[in-house]
Amino acid sequence: MPRLQTQLYAISDLRDQPDFCSTVAERVWRAWWEEAGHPLERVAEHMEEMLDDGTLPFGLVAHGGAKYLGSTLIISCDLDDRPQYAPWVAAVWVEAEHRGQGIGRALVRHAAESAFSLGYDIAYLCALPEKQSFYEAFGWHRLEENVGPHGLTVLTFSRGV
Ligand SMILES: CC(C)(COP(=O)(O)OP(=O)(O)OC[C@H]1O[C@@H](n2cnc3c(N)ncnc32)[C@H](O)[C@@H]1OP(=O)(O)O)[C@@H](O)C(=O)NCCC(=O)NCCS
Repeated sequence: MPRLQTQLYAISDLRDQPDFCSTVAERVWRAWWEEAGHPLERVAEHMEEMLDDGTLPFGLVAHGGAKYLGSTLIISCDLDDRPQYAPWVAAVWVEAEHRGQGIGRALVRHAAESAFSLGYDIAYLCALPEKQSFYEAFGWHRLEENVGPHGLTVLTFSRGV
C-alpha cells in the first residue's frame, strides 16, 4: 500500500519509517499496558514484529517529516474472545495536540485499505462503547456489543464501502 501524503502529514508503513518504532511502543504502552503493569520492554519487543517482512502484523505512522503525530497497528488478533475475526485495526492513537484534524480517521481508513490490498474483504476493530461513534461516523458498523470482560464493541469495515 503506498503511503498517503497530505499537505500537513504523511501516513507511512512503519517498515519504511522504523525510527518511529520506539515512540509508537511508548504511546501504546502508556495508553493500554502501563496501568496493567506490563513492562514497556515487552511492548517494544512486540513492536519489532511490525518491521518483519510479510503481511500481518504491520504498523502505520502519521508524521509531519520527523515529527510523530499518531499511529495504528494492523494485527491478526486483538480480542482473545473472537479468534475467528482478522485482521484487526488496533491501538489507534493521535497525539493530544493534533487531535480533531482528521488524522485519526485517516489512519483508520488507511489501515482498512491496507488490509484490503492484502486480500482481506473485512477489517475489524474493538472499542469501548463510548468510542464507537467515532468509527461509525465514517462507515464502520457494529457487529457485536458487550464482548469479553471489558464489554467491548466489535465493529467492521468492508471492502468497497
Ligand atoms: C480517538 C482518536 C484516535 C481520534 O483521533 P482524531 O485525530 O482526533 O480524530 P479525527 O480528527 O479524525 O476525528 C474525526 C471525528 O471523530 C470525532 N471524535 C474524535 N474523538 C472521538 C471520540 N472519542 N468519540 C466520538 N467521536 C470522536 C471528532 O470530533 C471528529 O468529528 P467531526 O469530523 O464531526 O468533527 C484520538 O482522540 C485518540 O488518540 N484518543 C486516545 C486513544 C484512543 O482512545 N484510541 C481509540 C481506541 S478505540
